[in-house]
Amino acid sequence: MPNHKIRLAVFCSGTGSNFKYLHTAIAERPLDAKIVLCISNRSQCGAMEYARENGIAAVHISEKQFASYDEFVASMLDALHEHDIEAIMLAGYMRKVPDAVVAAYPDRMLNIHPALLPKFGGEGMYGIHVHTAVLAAGETESGATVHMVNEEYDKGRIVLQECVPVLSGDTPETLAERVLACEHRLYPAALEKLLDEMKTAEIR
Ligand code: GAR
Repeated sequence: MPNHKIRLAVFCSGTGSNFKYLHTAIAERPLDAKIVLCISNRSQCGAMEYARENGIAAVHISEKQFASYDEFVASMLDALHEHDIEAIMLAGYMRKVPDAVVAAYPDRMLNIHPALLPKFGGEGMYGIHVHTAVLAAGETESGATVHMVNEEYDKGRIVLQECVPVLSGDTPETLAERVLACEHRLYPAALEKLLDEMKTAEIR
């Protein structure tokens, strides 16, 4: 399809700086993609505010809103179908994506993790906890990893990875800042790679 822009959803839980960098990079490069939906487990957060300010549908979906897990999953799938979402970028989403949603987007869902996977991944390893663990382990380098999402936490195929040094005197906060700057470069590059893969798959 000529000039078809891949319709993206971002899933966020907080500040949404990765979301903002993705959104800006898509416009600046430019990339054949469009972020049309932001799903968050929090009704009010930086990411949802940014979506609303930029004319991107902001949909609050939290397990707490539903009587059952199945209804929660159905509502997430409905939102994705309603907006014709073709690929998903997890950008600081602090929840496990339901298996049925992962299954609906095979090789079409990316996550960015603030460490060098397979180290420092898995349940409980998110946000500042990751950097605390990296420092406690005495690592001399950390970094960011973009990977495909599968049913296991932080275990999908690695798409891109970049290292940053751990400096003497680092706190979890200073390390987080250095890693986040690296994430902001890495995630748009990974999106570009995904779009290329999707185009190649379309041609075949
Ligand atoms: C980022 O460092 C991201 O890698 C991390 O949360 C931060 C979100 O920042 N994600 C995880 O830990 C997921 N396991 P942001 O909201 O400013 O993009």
